[in-house]
Amino acid sequence: MAGWTARDIPPQRGRVALVTGATGGIGFEVARALAAAGAEVLFAVRDRGKAEAAMACVAGETPGARLGFVPLDLGELRSVRGCAEEVAARHPALHLLVNNAGVMALPTRRLTADGFERQLGVNFLGHFALAARLLPLLRTATSPRVVTVTSLAYRFGRLRFEDLQGERKYRPWRAYAQSKLAALSFALELQRRSDRGGWGVASIAAHPGWAMTNLYANGPASEGATPLLLRLMRRATRLFSHSAEIGARPLLFAATAAEARPGGHYGRCRLCELRGPPAPARITAAARDEVAAARLWQAAEALTGTRF
Ligand SMILES: NC(=O)c1ccc[n+]([C@@H]2O[C@H](COP(=O)([O-])OP(=O)(O)OC[C@H]3O[C@@H](n4cnc5c(N)ncnc54)[C@H](OP(=O)(O)O)[C@@H]3O)[C@@H](O)[C@H]2O)c1
Repeated sequence: MAGWTARDIPPQRGRVALVTGATGGIGFEVARALAAAGAEVLFAVRDRGKAEAAMACVAGETPGARLGFVPLDLGELRSVRGCAEEVAARHPALHLLVNNAGVMALPTRRLTADGFERQLGVNFLGHFALAARLLPLLRTATSPRVVTVTSLAYRFGRLRFEDLQGERKYRPWRAYAQSKLAALSFALELQRRSDRGGWGVASIAAHPGWAMTNLYANGPASEGATPLLLRLMRRATRLFSHSAEIGARPLLFAATAAEARPGGHYGRCRLCELRGPPAPARITAAARDEVAAARLWQAAEALTGTRF
């Protein structure tokens, strides 16, 4: 996988891929590269206007690209169900689901339409419900994959079952780190359940390192940030970040490369996984904890009212 880039994506013709959060940032780059490789790409996003602009951009670069819009707000379980129903009505099979959309470190505790703490709700619970509802379509496809996007921040997370939704104590970064640990724990547990149940679905996690996107503006800076914090962020971003296109590579590797291992986690190979081509990423003991993963799965089923 040395030097792996989007040019190494195997032909995707005949495959249908659904990418959440494909309006911009890393999700857009994933959608764009998959379309260029021949996949039919479904932009599962909440804003039709943004979806149309993103699809027009991809179509301009890849004439004849097969693209579609499916409305999806991950902060609303009714919308998640509607999205899965619409995909099922239009496609007999789904080959690739990329659980990419996310929000980061919202300064104050905000809720989804269903009353979940927003980071847990969007980053984890919404994608859990979406994957559960799309499982029949994935199982119908040849070589189906589910790619779940994590973050280096997951390493600082802990699954606080006593206060999963930060009702007693909300800390923006703690909630983000927990939501990303939940995402990784889910990705690994999905692979175990797929193996046990003979579902044939490969579940692979991936993180982008640090990419220049709207994640910071929509998260920590969404309610204003102190000048000092802004200065620090600008400096750190200049030093450690890369473009969204480079950030998308580990996700694309997980989504398409023959070498990507089911149950694996991919990031980058250098500078504490911040730089370099796609490479296996560290999986901490907390993420490997199978008892915690089963408990989280049960909690997610109860909260979302969905089962795999
Ligand atoms: N950038 C990084 O350095 C970095 C590092 C580690 C992990 N990540 C992860 O990478 C993923 C992509 O982030 P990004 O950096 O590309 O950020 P971004 O530019 O802010 O994109 C986030 C995407 O998520 C969508 N989204 C947010 N809330 C949603 C909801 N309720 N329903 C449906 N879609 C929703 C946004 O859609 P709208 O356009 O409608 O807002 C947008 O398309 C996230 O999971 C993030 O945690 C990023």
